[in-house]
Amino acid sequence: MELYLDTADAAAVARLARCFPVAGVTTNPSIAAAAGRPLAETLIALREALGCEGRLFAQVLAPDAEGMVSQARQLRTLVPDLVVKIPAIPEGLAAIRLLKQEKIPTLGTAVYGAGQGLFAALAGAEYISPYVNRMDAQGGDGVQTTRDLQQLLTQHAPHARVLAASFKTARQALSCLLAGCEAITLPVEIAQQFIQAPAVEAAVERFEQDWQGAFGDRFL
Ligand code: E4P
Repeated sequence: MELYLDTADAAAVARLARCFPVAGVTTNPSIAAAAGRPLAETLIALREALGCEGRLFAQVLAPDAEGMVSQARQLRTLVPDLVVKIPAIPEGLAAIRLLKQEKIPTLGTAVYGAGQGLFAALAGAEYISPYVNRMDAQGGDGVQTTRDLQQLLTQHAPHARVLAASFKTARQALSCLLAGCEAITLPVEIAQQFIQAPAVEAAVERFEQDWQGAFGDRFL
């Protein structure tokens, strides 16, 4: 599987990449705006934090296909191996088709339906990001929609991968992996929850206390 971090915090990426097999970093305009500095600076810092291995994803903002293509080229000039996130709206699908001709890899984002994701994949997107928590928040079923999307891609667009996104709980992320998704992107705090639960920390602390109570600082 591929694990991505959904953040613009380069220090957090460097810290988590020490213990997680981070495949790359996803951003969106809201995440990048929260970083409080120009997008180019944020992307360069993330690129450095990732090292030469990981993939970086950044999103276009233009409302029309031509503008999206132009912004995609600008992003790729800055970071040559960047995957361009394109909203899976009508103009976005047109942009994905144009960028496919230029061999610029894309991710269809803002996906709230399995059919919407399928058509972004058929347009040529390499990754599709269903917004799991946002669907749940609207009264939908984000995990079930993601499961449906995974099945549709497997059957009809096997070149494309689900990169499940928008998580507010670790359980949502695990459910998407159990549904067969090959890739997820996690906010830093959700990634940390997997390995920093209070019960785990208490268990490890208890081992230390029991041993030190008997033998102090001696180990062997
Ligand atoms: C992916 O990068 C998406 O833009 C992101 O996961 C959306 O997350 P949110 O619903 O928490 O804003």
